[in-house]
Amino acid sequence: MKKRSSKKEGNSQYRMMILAGFIVIFTFLSILVILTMDALEESQPQEVLVRDPERIENGIHLRTGLKAGEGMEAVIRHCTPCHSASLVTQNRMDAAGWESTIRWMQETQNLWDLGEDHELVVRYLTREYPVESKGRRQALKNIEWYSLDGQNP
Ligand code: HEC
Repeated sequence: MKKRSSKKEGNSQYRMMILAGFIVIFTFLSILVILTMDALEESQPQEVLVRDPERIENGIHLRTGLKAGEGMEAVIRHCTPCHSASLVTQNRMDAAGWESTIRWMQETQNLWDLGEDHELVVRYLTREYPVESKGRRQALKNIEWYSLDGQNP
């Protein structure tokens, strides 16, 4: 009889240990799942934008793709109601080019008068989306050309 009960005690201790083990593993896995879901949510741009539509990351306004800088809000206000901001970000122009694009839209596409924002908008566009001067090297200047006379008789 005595033997039996001690065997029973051993069994229930064993069960308690297994139960405790399960609880520890379960808690650990739950924390892992919660952390993973948080990380996933952060990494989905849509979720981030729903929570913070005006978020700027690495100098880019995520919702529109415009470069952050003075005048960006005015550009969002005036330049994104009709078409996507990518029409802006895909273009490179100097001040005269942006001026004439704006004038063209005002004359033919019902773009309104930008009023006191006009200068701000043109300055932003010219600063952030200028003509790219890369590509061809500068023309050579002040070169002393040598004469080929006499070399090709
Ligand atoms: C009232 C509507 C409207 C607003 C506001 C507007 N645009 Fe446009 N924009 C247009 C239309 C329409 C087009 C032509 C789209 C097409 O070609 O399909 C256009 C085209 C453009 C183009 C391309 C031009 C080309 O040569 O193809 C650029 C760049 C542009 N817009 C910039 C801007 C900027 C910068 C602003 C803010 C100052 C702005 N838009 C605000 C209507 C608008």
